[in-house]
Amino acid sequence: MKVHGKDYRAVWMERRDVMVIDQTLLPHRFKLLRLGNHRETARVIAAMIVRGAGTIGATAGYGMAQAVFEAPARGFDTYVEQACQRLLRTRPTAVDLKHAVDRVRAVAMEKDRGAAVAEAERIADEYVVRARRIGEVGLPLIRSGSRVLTHCNAGWLALVDWGSATAPIYLAHRKGRKVFVWVDETRPRNQGANLTSWELLNEGVPHKIIADNAGGFYMQHGEVDLCIVGADRIAANGDTANKIGTYQKAVLARENGIPFYVAAPTSTIDWKCQTGADIPIEERDEDEVRFISGVNARNRIECIRLTPPGAHAANPGFDVTPAKFITGIITEKGIVKSGKLRSLR
Ligand code: MRU
Repeated sequence: MKVHGKDYRAVWMERRDVMVIDQTLLPHRFKLLRLGNHRETARVIAAMIVRGAGTIGATAGYGMAQAVFEAPARGFDTYVEQACQRLLRTRPTAVDLKHAVDRVRAVAMEKDRGAAVAEAERIADEYVVRARRIGEVGLPLIRSGSRVLTHCNAGWLALVDWGSATAPIYLAHRKGRKVFVWVDETRPRNQGANLTSWELLNEGVPHKIIADNAGGFYMQHGEVDLCIVGADRIAANGDTANKIGTYQKAVLARENGIPFYVAAPTSTIDWKCQTGADIPIEERDEDEVRFISGVNARNRIECIRLTPPGAHAANPGFDVTPAKFITGIITEKGIVKSGKLRSLR
C-alpha cells in the first residue's frame, strides 16, 4: 500500500535487520524502526508496535531468521529454541505467530541461514498473495453504495499488505465502486480510530469513525449493509477470536438482519482448537484502559490518564464470536459458511 506515494509493507527484512512501521505513533507520525536482533523484534511484537495477526506472524518469522544468524555454532539448537519460546510468548491469541515460528524453526534446525531467511520471506509473501485473493473473493459482497462496518484494524498494517477485512473494500474502491466504511474506534488501543482510518484516508475511501457504542444505533437505523472483521484465531467449528468488542457487533448484526463476515487467510484457522473455548485469550496491561495518547495543540504526542488515580481496569484483548453469528468466512480459497469450515481441510 502507498504512504506518501511510496509502496510499503507493514514489515520487511533488510540484510539482518527487521524493518517495521511503528504503529503506536500512527496516525500522528510515520516512523520506521530498524530491529537489529530477535530480542528487539520480540519486544516490538509484545508492545504492539507491530500488531495484527498476519503482520505478527510475518514479523515473528523474520525474528526467527534473525535468531538463526545470531546463534553460536556451539549451542545452536538451544539458542534457536530459546528464541522460538521468546517469540511465542509475545502474543498468545494470534495463531499466525505460531505457524510462522514453527515453519522457520523447522528450516532453522538444518543450520542453513539462507534457507531460514528464504522461509521467512516466503511467509510474508504468502500473506500478501492471500490477502489480495481475499479481496477478489470478497469483492462480490460489496455493491456500489455498500456501507460496511468494521472493527479494529484488519487492514494492510495488520496483514503485511492489503489487509483481510479491508482487501475487498480497497479492491471495490479501486474498481470505482462507491463504498463507505463505518470504523469502530476500538477501545482501548483505538486501532480503528488510529490505524484503519489512516489507511482509508491514504486510499481515499470515504468513512467515519464511530464510538464503539454507536454501531448498534447505525445498524438499527438501516445504515449498515454488512459487517466485515478480521480474525486472530478461528476454531475448527468456526468460532472466531478477534479484537475485543467483535462479539457484540456480531450479535447486534444478527438482531438487525445484517450479514456478518469474518475475513482471514486459512493460516488463521487452528484445527487443534475444536471450539472457541480452546482459544487462549490474551489479557493485557490495565494501563491500556487507564491511559490514552494523542497529539496536543502543539502537535506533540502526549499520554494522559483517563481514570481516577488508583482505579483498576480489566483488559481482555480478544473475544470469541460463536460460529452461529457468522454469515461466512472469506478466505483465499473462497467464502465458506462458518459451520462448514472443515470443508477447507
Ligand atoms: O491486538 P491487535 O491489534 O493485534 O488485534 C488485531 C485484530 O484483532 C485484527 O482484527 C486481526 O488481527 C486481524 S488482522 C488481519
